[in-house]
Amino acid sequence: MDIAVIGTGYVGLVTGAGLADFGNDVICVDIDVKKIEALRRGEIPIYEPGLGKLVSKNVEEKRLSFTTDLQTAIRGARAIFIAVGTPPKADGSADLRYVEEVARSIAKEMNGPKLIVTKSTVPIGTGRLIEKILKESGTPHKGSVVSNPEFLREGLAIEDFMKPDRVVIGASDPEAAALMKEIYAPLHSLETPFVVTNVESSELIKYASNGFLATKITFINEIAQVCEKVGANVHDVAVGMGLDSRIGPKFLQAGPGFGGSCFPKDTSAMADISKKYGYEFQIMEAVLRVNDDIKQRMVTKIIEAGGGSVKGKTIAILGLAFKPETDDMRDSPTIPIIKGLQKAGASVRAFDPQAVENSKSIFENVTYCVDAYQAAEGADILVIATEWNEFRALNLGRIRKALRQPVVVDLRNVYDPQRMKSEGFNYTSVGRAS
Ligand code: UDX
Repeated sequence: MDIAVIGTGYVGLVTGAGLADFGNDVICVDIDVKKIEALRRGEIPIYEPGLGKLVSKNVEEKRLSFTTDLQTAIRGARAIFIAVGTPPKADGSADLRYVEEVARSIAKEMNGPKLIVTKSTVPIGTGRLIEKILKESGTPHKGSVVSNPEFLREGLAIEDFMKPDRVVIGASDPEAAALMKEIYAPLHSLETPFVVTNVESSELIKYASNGFLATKITFINEIAQVCEKVGANVHDVAVGMGLDSRIGPKFLQAGPGFGGSCFPKDTSAMADISKKYGYEFQIMEAVLRVNDDIKQRMVTKIIEAGGGSVKGKTIAILGLAFKPETDDMRDSPTIPIIKGLQKAGASVRAFDPQAVENSKSIFENVTYCVDAYQAAEGADILVIATEWNEFRALNLGRIRKALRQPVVVDLRNVYDPQRMKSEGFNYTSVGRAS
């Protein structure tokens, strides 16, 4: 099927390349000329394992192309996937201006029946809004609005696209649902469960899923705080909980709080949308508050590891991205942590395998290093903030020699406290006794 994907960010690019790999003819559109020219040169503007290969394979097989010409792309497509940003506004609600602009362009260019698919995470009711824009435009052509939320994790996006746990389709007419199954035909034959429901339910499934996952993480992060008070081990508690098939072991890894471009945005949008429709979503509001509190507690933890003050001390931060295998700094916990430490008088050195470039516009007076050992050089405290694999096998002898003081604060529980003690470190972590 001829498909246009509008927006070539984390979601749009993976969706475009994935749908092309399923045998559809896909044209990816963006207003950013530089980005489109780079994509045409085979350069991928984001770090996502496997995306470069998937894009070049489908470009070579002439199923995937890139353009800035939105009008032509709309006219030539049977299905149009909207994958533009829905960034949070100051009040926490989702900014729909880009979605509305695309909907108006589609209405203007309609030249036949089209499937209009919201792939971006959009507030409940956005499908209806797009229908209204189409109707107000007076177009004589049928535009079927479909919700098809993505469940892609950064760093695992290709895998999540190719082998999803489910495909969710929110459609108001059966023909639209049937066309969507045609688009996702390879998955359909793979027996991937398809959830076909109405548009509002599909939009809510996305928010409810992310909201629940963020709640699960925040729950274990609070359990970690209790563990530190009562002398329990959060890792063992998580294992004990996770063996209950109703709970499951995933997303029970205690850490410095959740970040990224989705959980913070989606949890605040969930709370905001509920409030707009007259319901106070108390658990979501609490998750947002607690998540911010957890990040501040990490600052306190590091200051305590420094003997109660970090004034004039040098702190080495290993990992800046909100999680491994991505260069994405959006809402990364390291942002309030580094700013909190600098406010407390520390000077900060940092290394991240991918996110240094994206960090430079966020922090001031951070010294960026080329690897963990250079970051540790002369530092008083070493902080593991993102669990990149390369930080799991550090040469601890080298680290100890490089540090001015053998103090390590492990916010991702990468190392074993006993081992660190025997290596001569003053080691603290999250939810476990030192
Ligand atoms: C998330 C959802 O997983 C995905 O389905 C949705 O489409 C987009 O949002 P992503 O934000 O890429 O994906 O990352 P994810 O792996 O879910 O991690 C989110 C945050 O939670 C990260 O900051 C991560 O460090 C944190 N996290 C995750 C934990 O602190 N503990 C865990 O056990 C898991």
